[in-house]
Amino acid sequence: MKKNGTVFFCQNCGYESAKWSGQCPACHEWNTFVEEPSAGSGHAPQTSRKKRSGEKSEPVSLNQIQTGEQNRILTGMHELDQVLGGGIVPGSLVLVGGDPGIGKSTLLLQVCRNLSESLDQVLYISGEESLQQIKLRAARIGDFRDSLQLLCETNLSDIEEVMLRRKPRVAVIDSIQTMYQEDISSAPGSVSQVREATGVLMRLAKEHNIAIFIVGHVTKEGTVAGPRVLEHMVDTVLYFEGDRHVSYRILRGVKNRFGSTNEIGVFEMSDTGLREVKNPSEYMLSGKPPGASGSVVTCTMEGTRPMLLEVQALVCRTNFGLPRRTAVGVDVNRVNLLMAVLEKRLNLQLSGYDAYVNVAGGIRLNEPAIDLALVMAIISSYKDIPIPEKTVVFGEVGLSGEIRAVNMAQQRVQEARKLGFLRVLLPQSSMEQVRQITGIELAGAASVRDAVKLVRGQ
Ligand code: TYD
Ligand code: MG
Repeated sequence: MKKNGTVFFCQNCGYESAKWSGQCPACHEWNTFVEEPSAGSGHAPQTSRKKRSGEKSEPVSLNQIQTGEQNRILTGMHELDQVLGGGIVPGSLVLVGGDPGIGKSTLLLQVCRNLSESLDQVLYISGEESLQQIKLRAARIGDFRDSLQLLCETNLSDIEEVMLRRKPRVAVIDSIQTMYQEDISSAPGSVSQVREATGVLMRLAKEHNIAIFIVGHVTKEGTVAGPRVLEHMVDTVLYFEGDRHVSYRILRGVKNRFGSTNEIGVFEMSDTGLREVKNPSEYMLSGKPPGASGSVVTCTMEGTRPMLLEVQALVCRTNFGLPRRTAVGVDVNRVNLLMAVLEKRLNLQLSGYDAYVNVAGGIRLNEPAIDLALVMAIISSYKDIPIPEKTVVFGEVGLSGEIRAVNMAQQRVQEARKLGFLRVLLPQSSMEQVRQITGIELAGAASVRDAVKLVRGQ
């Protein structure tokens, strides 16, 4: 440890170093190191490490512990409840991350409004907006009850005092980057401040059984600004994502101590706040052009939830020597790989063609189960023959052109049937799982060559 008791932290990822450097060795961001008191130096506050008097640590047996499973608090927004694993767990700490302006404050204010109907004390603490600004936002959302209390405050000691006095069941902190503790000299939003603030909130949540939502800003790399430690400390991490140019938003659970991760909730931003999208597949397919070549509907799994999406490809002759390959929403390397498979296994002369691949709706997919849809979209555009209408395609494609089984084939087929699709093209090896599903035609393909024949045969 250095003599003066300070260390350098990367403001981006929380990397700790004894000396300053221009580029962070962990996240490779430039100019992010700041000097802050080190934890053991005596300069830094020890609030969260202080031993409270009169309390002895006592182990208990596992069987004595009562779970709070049955008294989860429902938010009144089914999509959010689903991402949380069935509602808010009392005393849990939930981090909601997302780009500025994506709708975090709106979402949480709506949650507070719903909760205030059933709970007698809900606290919304904002360090970013004035009471008037919150009121203006609230006016767009609807009427509010008196049980929702607002507080504009950034000083954590004051917030702690209010929380202890009011004992709300649920509280919202908007945002963690604006909160500060007086005894830490660094600026709000710095690593020490964010870490200490989260520590204080965690203690409040656990000791007084207050469920706390923390809003966290996101850096341009897509992680919550400030240290990674924030993500380790909280119980649940949710990301609110979406393109600012399209109105739907996806709330994604990336960590959840009380439920499964990768669950998503779909919302739509309207002029009266966020609306839940009950049937995302229908919503995502609403603009699909009928009878267009290069357009294929596939089914992807987001957590346990199947979602139908349109994959588009445009393959056209290249004007320069080197073909261009562009992919939006899928990995471009995957597209290159699949095109190489098509060249080798189906003898398609794709090396003289540009290929542009797009997932409609601005969603990012990284599931191998969409391979077959990408392949069929590319072939369809190359040959300029549309894929028959009302067909859903999914399956993983291997390097020999074989089609491999995917997980949860049953749910995918059921989703297709639910939305009125007539046919599913799927891996031969997944057929066993779905054989009992009736009311939809199932075509199993063992290789890409088979798949093309099956589609042509329709
Ligand atoms: P906001 O919740 O302030 O975002 P964050 O807290 O994540 O920064 O999002 C506000 C955006 O949403 C803003 O661009 C305006 C828009 N909006 C609507 O379209 N309709 C509404 O009813 C509200 C309240 C906001
Ligand atoms: Mg906000």
